[in-house]
Amino acid sequence: MAKTTRKSEAGKPQFARKLLGWYDKNARDLPWRVGPAARRARQRPNPYRVWLSEIMLQQTTVATVSNRYAVFLERWPTVAALAAAPLDDVLGEWAGLGYYARARNLHKCARAIVNEHGGKFPVTEEALRSLPGVGEYTAAAIAAIAFDQRAIVVDGNIERIVARVFEIETPLPKAKAEIKALGETMWPESRSGDFAQGLMDLGAEICRPKNPSCETCPLSAYCGAYQNDAVEAYPKKTPKKQKPVRVGAAFALKNSRGEILLERRPEKGLLGGMLGLPGTQWSESPPSSPKNSAPVKTSWNLAGDVRHTFTHFHLSLKIYCGEAPKGFRKNSNQQWLSPDKAKLPTIMRKAVNTVSNQ
Ligand code: ADE
Repeated sequence: MAKTTRKSEAGKPQFARKLLGWYDKNARDLPWRVGPAARRARQRPNPYRVWLSEIMLQQTTVATVSNRYAVFLERWPTVAALAAAPLDDVLGEWAGLGYYARARNLHKCARAIVNEHGGKFPVTEEALRSLPGVGEYTAAAIAAIAFDQRAIVVDGNIERIVARVFEIETPLPKAKAEIKALGETMWPESRSGDFAQGLMDLGAEICRPKNPSCETCPLSAYCGAYQNDAVEAYPKKTPKKQKPVRVGAAFALKNSRGEILLERRPEKGLLGGMLGLPGTQWSESPPSSPKNSAPVKTSWNLAGDVRHTFTHFHLSLKIYCGEAPKGFRKNSNQQWLSPDKAKLPTIMRKAVNTVSNQ
């Protein structure tokens, strides 16, 4: 079929009505969400819960967050409780979720809300934007979902829907500004939070990256890519660069109680502030004398190799295991912990498992 350059009618009020009608019937039941029926019964979202969920959902799937959110909320049910918690407890509860700067900023933000905003979240997108860890997307999501402000929320799902509806030829991430401007033309005056969440759900359930269910999509009549039989060709994407591989070594020192020596990583940098095994730098060429980076001179045995992928590189880490010699003294940045109790980031959990399973 020849491609028609049909201007989408997504700006018309019927578009928003269709999407909201679909959301009313199909909204996912998510632990942080006040669904459409509860909203009609005048239940209002709790801004603390909305904020917490949005920070957790950055770079992390709904399935993973759903399992962790309730535990977090039970431990710190209010922003005041979270602000009063020691940072290390918050980092420990975040272990395994990745992107640990989020947890540090979460804690900083809770303290800012309590100390500078009288314990209440600000309402406008602009004021929200000034909080630690709250960027353009998150400010818009909180303003829309918690306060029903008309804020244009653009996450990955919404980007995909807009790119398809309007057949945006500019590749992502360059198309972001264009997508936001088009979002502005289609966003309704009321039910802004439901509209945002409706788009998110549509992107997750119908307008999927692969095999979208266009037959059941409420927006297909407005979708340029659908009309032109080219849905999976959008969004256009700039090809990703291959990630480099970095290598390093880490050392699992055991004491007579079966505990493992862990140290707190520097605040700045990867896995900042988290616990981990002592070890070498991670670089593209192998360390020439890895054992110089061990916490002590002892007989080190190679226990295995673990791999993990970070945002910008793949990591391959050799794990050495050894017994603490008599008279070994840890430094103030180190602690002995039972390997199954320590709350560790994923790469360090994999590393510790290779030695504690032996
Ligand atoms: N992803 C990010 N925020 C979300 C939300 N509020 N609901 C569903 N998915 C999301």
